[in-house]
Amino acid sequence: MPSLLPFLSPGRSGSPCASGRAALTCRMRCGDACAHDAPNTSDNAYFGDVATAMSRRGLLRTGAVVGAGAAAAGLALATAAPAAAAPAVPAKGRPGGPGAGTGKGLDFVPVAPNTRDQVTVPPGYAQAVVMAWGDPLFRGTPAFDVDRQSAAAQKKQFGYNNDFLGLLPLGRGQYLMVVNHEYTSEQLMHRGYDAAHPTREQVEIGWAAHGLSVVVVEEERGTGALKPVVGHRLNRRLHTQSTFELTGPVAGHALVRTKADPRGRTVLGTLNNCGGGLTPWGTWLTAEENFNQYFANGSSVTDATVLARLKRYGAAGSATERKWERFDDRFDLTKEPNEINRFGWIVEVDPYDPTSTPKKRTALGRFKHEAAEPQLTKDGRVAMYMGDDERFDYLYKFVSDGKVARGADDAARRRNRDVLDSGTLYVARFLGNSSVAEIDGTGALPSDGAFDGAGVWVPLVSGTTSYVKGMTAEEVLLFTRQAADIVGATKMDRPEDVEPSPQTGKVYVALTNNSNRGAAGQTPADETNPRNANKHGHVLELTELDDDGASTAFTWNLLLVCGDPKDPNTYWGGFDPRRVSPISCPDNVAFDPHGNLWISTDGNALGSHDGLFAVPLEGRNRGQVKQFLTVPTGAETCGPWIDSDRVMVCVQHPGEKDGASVDAPASQWPDGPGSVPRPGVVAVWPRRR
Ligand code: FEO
Ligand code: CA
Ligand code: CA
Repeated sequence: MPSLLPFLSPGRSGSPCASGRAALTCRMRCGDACAHDAPNTSDNAYFGDVATAMSRRGLLRTGAVVGAGAAAAGLALATAAPAAAAPAVPAKGRPGGPGAGTGKGLDFVPVAPNTRDQVTVPPGYAQAVVMAWGDPLFRGTPAFDVDRQSAAAQKKQFGYNNDFLGLLPLGRGQYLMVVNHEYTSEQLMHRGYDAAHPTREQVEIGWAAHGLSVVVVEEERGTGALKPVVGHRLNRRLHTQSTFELTGPVAGHALVRTKADPRGRTVLGTLNNCGGGLTPWGTWLTAEENFNQYFANGSSVTDATVLARLKRYGAAGSATERKWERFDDRFDLTKEPNEINRFGWIVEVDPYDPTSTPKKRTALGRFKHEAAEPQLTKDGRVAMYMGDDERFDYLYKFVSDGKVARGADDAARRRNRDVLDSGTLYVARFLGNSSVAEIDGTGALPSDGAFDGAGVWVPLVSGTTSYVKGMTAEEVLLFTRQAADIVGATKMDRPEDVEPSPQTGKVYVALTNNSNRGAAGQTPADETNPRNANKHGHVLELTELDDDGASTAFTWNLLLVCGDPKDPNTYWGGFDPRRVSPISCPDNVAFDPHGNLWISTDGNALGSHDGLFAVPLEGRNRGQVKQFLTVPTGAETCGPWIDSDRVMVCVQHPGEKDGASVDAPASQWPDGPGSVPRPGVVAVWPRRR
């Protein structure tokens, strides 16, 4: 379908991805996930309307009775989000346009869709790069030089392709900035890169450029800019050779033991860290996503059970894109079959302790983790919401057994050090309340005027107890996708970031897109994922029964059905589509201190560059999507972070266009003419009036 925006040409990507992404991005970021068949080949059915489904024995066994209390709003549950005022806003919206009338804290002139090679912000706002790929964290570290890069330098420099971003307060205008480095794009990192024959040094630079950064940053007086404090004792780089610990029920299991680690407890590295979250006790959660792409030769595995597991995670290929298997046997599945089982976890890092060993928390299950965002339950435990970012994969929740010790100081972090190691892991099953016949796959609303319904959290495993027939508890945690297939979870359109509102406790789920929805032989549209060939994605609002994160039942509705607002089959929370910004491919979400939802996008099937958007969730402006910024050519908007002083985003993979290289860059952000593009963190703040 052509773009409905006459001034924008559709993105030309040559990739099979619904989002208009460059083929290069698909290859390097997610191992061409969309070029392969979706790995979920289970035939778990959609349960149709609530009345029918609620009578089914399987549902009732979960204990879910979706009562009237589920819709009652209003519990303010503590989460890690900071409480402060929203950014000051200097400019009025245009009458009649997307900015006309606006939600509290969102009185900015929306940025129009565009394809400029820059970060474009509303009038009245200033911006600056905080840190970019190659910037030093430590004294004596070489400054970035694309022609003199080394693995030794990269281990001490800011990594590549920043994704999750969090700020933790240190006081006196200083913060701990925690950042994920999801993946590397070697063509854009090395002059003359030969993808068929990478050198050892290039591979080791890749190992060092993946991972995590902890950097102390401080406010610049009189502006909203943040500057890194090079050499601060809390600065830290964690990468593919750093030590991580497996904890929880799977630690030590036979399926995570390797030649180098016969005890199955110590892992080198973390890979493809995408989104994340911050806990109420002051730690950082980071999500290992497309880990499958780093492991070679799965197709040579002969054991049928092992091969089925690899296929379900998309790891049954031959040589990998980066060829790491040539330099370390642990990336070759025929030589070290269990190494892959040590990736695909949620990792918890204590950024306040630079000597701490990060923990891979196996109780939260193993899949292509997009993020993990917490909410305290009414009885003081923690519920952790998580998406598995793949077409037709699932939405999960973990609820801890133990209560959370209050506070975010050293003592609280000590007391909560095991809280994520035992609990119950659930997967979501959604039910629509309109008749199946009314969901025609176009996105047209059913006659009750809403895509909505109820749902249940189906338990998969609790400690050593498996609720999944034919799988042990450890197998459920290791091969969670297969366990969720068996219990009939609802196939979703790429569940990415999932975040509870600190104000209302309602949970928001970004569903990016799904090119295969409704294709021949594939699962068709349902009320929860109501468009076939879903190019633009949607945002789901979930309300736990009794507003309690520990509940096993919920109600839900779609807040947004994204796309061009001129398309009648988009939906804007009931708001007038003539007064919203177009949005496509929602990905990371975050809240500002007013309770507005901010959404960054991953791709744009409308032909514009990616961006950051804000949308009020309550009151008469509910659903009024407004675009706050756009990012440079080829880039994706990640992060984001919004507090009382500034809006921050990670600009990921700038210049990642097909055919681009160090010698022929497609972007010159952020350093300008003659430079190579560098992924980087940007702070935006209102100029003084
Ligand atoms: Fe790394 Fe699901 O995006
Ligand atoms: Ca409905
Ligand atoms: Ca988030």
